[in-house]
Amino acid sequence: MSAGHGDRPAPPSGERSHAIESVLVENRTFDPPAELSAHAQVASLADYEALYARAARDPEGFWAEQASELHWATPWTAVMQGGFPTRATDPAPRWFVGGTLNASVSCLDRHAAGPRANKAALMFEGEPGDTRVLTYAQLHREVCRAANALTGLGIRAGDFVAIYMPMVPEAAIAMLACARIGAPHTVVFGGFSSEALSDRIKDCKAKLVITADGGWRRGQIVPLKANVDQAVAGSTVEKVLVLKRCANEVAWSERDVWWHDVVATASPKHTPAAFDSEHPLFTLYTSGSTGKPKGIVHTTGGYLTNAHYTTKLVFDLKDRDVFWCTADIGWVTGHSYVVYGPLAAGATVLLYEGAPNQPGPDRFWDIVARWGVTILYTAPTAIRAFMRWGDEHPAKHDLSSLRLLGSVGEPINPEAWMWYRTTIGGDRCPIVDTWWQTETGSIMISPLPGATPTKPGSATRPLPGVAAEIVHKDGTVCGPNQGGFLVVRAPWPGMLRTIAGDHERFVATYFSEVAGCYFAGDGARKDSDGYVWVMGRVDDVINVAGHRLSTMEVESALVSHPKVAEAAVVGRPDELKGQAIVAFVTPKLGVTADDALATELRAHVATQIGALARPEEIRFAEALPKTRSGKIMRRLLREVASGSTARGDTTTLEDQGVLESLAQSFSADD
Ligand code: WTA
Repeated sequence: MSAGHGDRPAPPSGERSHAIESVLVENRTFDPPAELSAHAQVASLADYEALYARAARDPEGFWAEQASELHWATPWTAVMQGGFPTRATDPAPRWFVGGTLNASVSCLDRHAAGPRANKAALMFEGEPGDTRVLTYAQLHREVCRAANALTGLGIRAGDFVAIYMPMVPEAAIAMLACARIGAPHTVVFGGFSSEALSDRIKDCKAKLVITADGGWRRGQIVPLKANVDQAVAGSTVEKVLVLKRCANEVAWSERDVWWHDVVATASPKHTPAAFDSEHPLFTLYTSGSTGKPKGIVHTTGGYLTNAHYTTKLVFDLKDRDVFWCTADIGWVTGHSYVVYGPLAAGATVLLYEGAPNQPGPDRFWDIVARWGVTILYTAPTAIRAFMRWGDEHPAKHDLSSLRLLGSVGEPINPEAWMWYRTTIGGDRCPIVDTWWQTETGSIMISPLPGATPTKPGSATRPLPGVAAEIVHKDGTVCGPNQGGFLVVRAPWPGMLRTIAGDHERFVATYFSEVAGCYFAGDGARKDSDGYVWVMGRVDDVINVAGHRLSTMEVESALVSHPKVAEAAVVGRPDELKGQAIVAFVTPKLGVTADDALATELRAHVATQIGALARPEEIRFAEALPKTRSGKIMRRLLREVASGSTARGDTTTLEDQGVLESLAQSFSADD
């Protein structure tokens, strides 16, 4: 692999211009360490290319081989049926048709019944410092108890269960217990407000909510149960199962049941039923480009095949690894790389409940050293925070157990990549920058640590079995370094099957933009080595600290406030969070636009969605820039928000005066 092509194109207008050093860094390559390659599942670039070609030649044979590493009760009769939908009523492709399995059996029973029975499955550390280790045999028993308890509460296969939990072992136990009885789960991130929780509960018609009295975050108790109490009012929820975690005071009603009353007392024996490969495993809500979050539906056989395959391959998993994915189980990363992928692969998973700077900024490094973490998988926004906190914090701890580092959730800037490699990885550990989405179910584009030379900031090449490409709108492939749309040109087992309750939106969003392709909504380019550089979203989705939000979701929250006439929300580049939310707000006539109103509106958004959606900045404006047909010109707002004057074409702007006054509009938080 040659270095130094100098082939980075000029950044598109509006994108943050990169420093000279970053261009120099981007053109460096780092070869896989020889000792890692020597024992890796895929040991060279040539081996990767051979495997990629093999999968492309015979995708069904390739995926059948991956699926056969799970435990199936009944074998499938066809590997795949159908293809990408073209009409609104076309179903998604089906995988491992006719096969039946139980996801929890692949994750637990088969390990608990073999040599891994006494291997640690979950190693847990709570924020206050309490710890627990559950072996595969113990985790299996706990999941069986929980499955029996859920059945006792009247939950049957096909019933939806919402999970709103802190990052404690019971969160994973709850998910696996749902999977065991065929009840699809909807995990809602504990940082979402009761409003957001309520929307999701109503959309999936959950019968049961599993929660805790509270969870620890920065020394404070997150009042999970109180949020649930508000969210379930007037819903389909019949019971609320409550884990005692913080022993904070909670209100109690007839609907409520303590975990320790029904789970701890249930039988640890449970005979699992097998479910159809296409039986839904979970629905996970994520933001699209409208105001309403989408319920992304994943099924059992295909999803689990993909999660297991990628965990083993991308992290080159070994039996002695201690695998720490720092994502919350409320996000897809937590589903695939805290629970389903690593447990299906029989790995030891570390689970940490709290904040990375509690009690001090070295908490993560303290954890790595004490538990002997070998693989660390985290997000660029966290890496940038660690950089800012200072090198002295990791320096205090022995990080020599680490052998591999991962990044996910947003593009990682080359500076953060280099810092991660040097300061955390001691220049020894390869970095896997993994591109994927809630919709894809698992990693799609990533280096293989023993095979792929890496370049800081590039997710490198698609995994074997993944037909990812960068194309123009008409579907033709982009040339080297031409920016285009990131698409996938053939089905894969772990792809989403529909959007809950809105199949039409599923077909329109993902399969109608570029004919014959899955449209990811990301812009990207490939360099002359075929390396993919993801540039960010091409739709109205913004990525704040690795969390996906739709501008319209935040706008709807703002206009639901009685003092707001109109609002437009954009993302602006932010050094720490990747993007920060800037809201342009036109107050109703007679309302005074002042600091107090800005504070009130920011709090209102936090109540409507969650603190993660609270705008960084609110700018009041008498009017918003619109086209003659009344469409808000977000591009102009983005430019104003990033502090530049609007450079682009403004000829379609209806009222030129609006721009000038926007540029001068004040920000209440400056
Ligand atoms: C972005 C998270 C660049 C991207 C797993 C995608 C990335 C969205 C990367 C999905 C990466 C994720 N490099 N961008 N390595 N990983 N993204 O659904 O814009 O929360 O479309 O899934 O995050 O976010 P989601």
